Amino acid sequence: MNTSPSPLSRADTHPAWLPDQAFAPIGRRRVAIAGADPLIETLAAEIAATTAAHGGTLTRSAATAAEDVQQDLVFAVSPSAPDDESFRLVRRSGSVTVTARSDRGLLHGFFHVVRLGERAFTDPDVDQTHAPAVALRVLDHWDNMDLHPVMGAVERGYAGGSIFFDPGDGLPGSGRVRDDLSRIAAYARLLASIGINRVALNNVNVHAREARLLTDDLPHVARIADIFRRWGIRVHLSVSWASPVLLGGLESSDPFDDGVIRWWADAADRVWAAIPDFGGFVIKADSEGQPGPFAYGRDHADGANMLADAVAPHGGLVHWRAFVYNHTQDWRDRSTDRARAAYDHFSPLDGRFRDNVIVQVKYGPMDFQTREPVSPVLAAMPHTRLALELQVTQEYTGQQQHAVYLAPQWSEILRFDFGERGTVTELATGGFAAVANVGTDEFWTGHPFAQANLYAYGRLSWDPNASAEALLDEWLALTFPDEPAPVAQAVHDILDESWLTYEQYTAPLGVGFMVRPGHHYGPDVDGYEYTPWGTYHFADRDGVGVDRTVATGTGYAGLYPQPWRDVYESLETCPDELLLFFHHVPYTHVLHSGKTVIQHIYDTHFEGVERVERYVIAWERVRGSVPDARLADRVADRLAEQVRSAIEWRDQINTYFLRKSGMPDAHGRTIY
Ligand code: GCU
Repeated sequence: MNTSPSPLSRADTHPAWLPDQAFAPIGRRRVAIAGADPLIETLAAEIAATTAAHGGTLTRSAATAAEDVQQDLVFAVSPSAPDDESFRLVRRSGSVTVTARSDRGLLHGFFHVVRLGERAFTDPDVDQTHAPAVALRVLDHWDNMDLHPVMGAVERGYAGGSIFFDPGDGLPGSGRVRDDLSRIAAYARLLASIGINRVALNNVNVHAREARLLTDDLPHVARIADIFRRWGIRVHLSVSWASPVLLGGLESSDPFDDGVIRWWADAADRVWAAIPDFGGFVIKADSEGQPGPFAYGRDHADGANMLADAVAPHGGLVHWRAFVYNHTQDWRDRSTDRARAAYDHFSPLDGRFRDNVIVQVKYGPMDFQTREPVSPVLAAMPHTRLALELQVTQEYTGQQQHAVYLAPQWSEILRFDFGERGTVTELATGGFAAVANVGTDEFWTGHPFAQANLYAYGRLSWDPNASAEALLDEWLALTFPDEPAPVAQAVHDILDESWLTYEQYTAPLGVGFMVRPGHHYGPDVDGYEYTPWGTYHFADRDGVGVDRTVATGTGYAGLYPQPWRDVYESLETCPDELLLFFHHVPYTHVLHSGKTVIQHIYDTHFEGVERVERYVIAWERVRGSVPDARLADRVADRLAEQVRSAIEWRDQINTYFLRKSGMPDAHGRTIY
C-alpha cells in the first residue's frame, strides 16, 4: 500500500497563477459553449464553476446556435482539425467569440480570455488569430521513483518531493506512482493554461526502478496520462538504453540486433495499448554514465533511429539528447574541450535521423550556466529536427533559494541570430523542452517567485517573441489579483534585473562553474578545477579564462557560422559577458566597459550584493500588506538566504582573485 501522508490535495496547494478571482470576469457573464469534443467537458466544468461563483450563466449546445449571439462570451469548435491548436478571438461591442478548429485550441482561447481579464470585454473591437510558434512545448521532469542517495526525490529539484512518485519507505525498489493524483489535476490545469502540451514524467538518468515504468508500471502511467489528457497534454517517459537487458533479459542492447529491435517494437506496442495518445521516449544515451549505442560500436543516429522505428507505427516521438561529452577527462589535457563535445558528436550525423527523432540540444555548450554562448549545434544541423532545451529548475541559478527570473535569459537565447541560418526560434523546428521546477512544496516551486519562471517558459514556448517584462506583469496580475500596487512594484524591483544580479555576484564574465561540486550551490572557485568534468577556468597569478579561439585555443569559436566565429575569436569584438568563456586574458585586460578584468570582478561582486540588500528592503517595505502571510514569510526567508549566499560568493570570488593576482581593489574595499 501507498501509505505516505499526502501533501498533495488541491486544497493545500497554492493556486499559483490560477486563483479563483482570475476567472471572475468570465464568471460574471453569460457564456455559451458549442461543441462536443472531449476537452469541451473540461472547459464547461471551468466555466460552470466560475459562473456559479460569480453570478453568470452557462448554456451548452452541440453546435453554435443563433441564440448564442445574445451571450457575452461564446466558445465554439468548428470545423474540426484535431492537431490545430490555434484559436480566433473576435470582440464586437463587448461581446466575445472564441472559435477554434480543435477542443485544444478552444482551451487555449479560454485561458487567453482569463489572462485578459476584464479587458477581454472592454478593449476595442478586434479579430485576431493566435497560434503557437511550435507544435511541441515540453516540460521534462527529472523525478525519481526511489529516493536517490544523492539526488533525492527529484534530480536538481528544489521544491520538495515528486508530485508523481511516492518513494515508499525509501528502500530500493519501493518507489511507486502515487495513489493520490489529485494534485496532478491542478498541475495539468496550470500547464495547460500556459500552453504546455507534453510532459515527460521521469528523470533522464533512468535508474533500475524507473526503468520499469515502461513495463510493470504502465497501468499507473496510464492513470497519470488520463489526467493530463483532460487538459490536452500528452505524456512521455524517459527510458534507459539498456532496457532490453534490464527488463527483457536480453544479452545486448545493440540497435542492430534483431532481438533488440523486436523487444523495443513490442515494448512500444504495449505502451500505446495502455496509453493510446502516449507521446514518446526521451533518452540520455552515452552521457554521464548512462548506457548507449557506443558500447556496440554504433552511433547516436543508429540508436535513435532504431527507437524511432519502434514508435513510428504509433505516431510516437524520440527525444534524443545531445548532452554528450567525456566526463572522465584528464584535467591535465588541454586539448579536450567539453564545449565542443555535442557539436563534434552530433553535427556529422545531420541528415541521418528519422523524421520522428528530435535531437534535444541544451541552450549552451556546457551545462545551463548563468551565462554561456548559444550552442553552435543549433545552427549546425539544418536537416534534423532540433529542440532547444532550457532549465526552469534553478540548478546553477540559485536553486530556488535565490530570486532569479530567467525569462530575460531565455528571450536572449530565443532571439539569438545565427545570421543566414536564422534565429534560435526559427532553428528549433522540433520545439522547446525545459526541465521542470515543481514539487510537493505548498507553493509548488519552493521560492514562490520561481513560479514566474514556469509561467514564462510556457508562455514563451507558445510565443517566443513575448517580452519577459510583459510576462512578469501577466504572472503578477493573475497570481496576486488583490495585491496593492506597491507589492507588484516590489516584485518587479526584485525580479526585473535578477538574472543580471545573480550573474554579478557569481562566476564572472562567462567563465562558469565556480560552484561547489556535486550539489552546485554556493561558491567553490577551484571546486571543479582539477576534476574530470571538463569545466575549468585556468586562473593563475597572471590571468583567467579558457582559450577557445581557433588561432591559439581549442578551436571552439570556429564552430560558429559567421559573423559569430569572428566576433568570438577576436578580443576586440568578443562581448564582455562572454570574454572568459572564449579567451584567457591577463587581469589587466581592459573590457569594452573601460574597466580592467580584475576591477570588473571586484565591482560586480560588490554591486551584486548591494542589489540583493536592496531586494530585502523592497520586500520588507511591502511584506505587511501581502494578504498571504505564509507567502510573504517564505519570500523573506529566501531573501535572507540570498543575501547570505551572495556575500559568501562575493567574498570567496574577490578574495580568490585578490590572492591570485595580488592586485588591490581600486576603491580599497574590504577583501579578505
Ligand atoms: C547536469 C545536471 C545533471 C543532469 C545533467 C543532464 O549535468 O547536473 O543532474 O543529469 O545535467 O542534463 O543530463
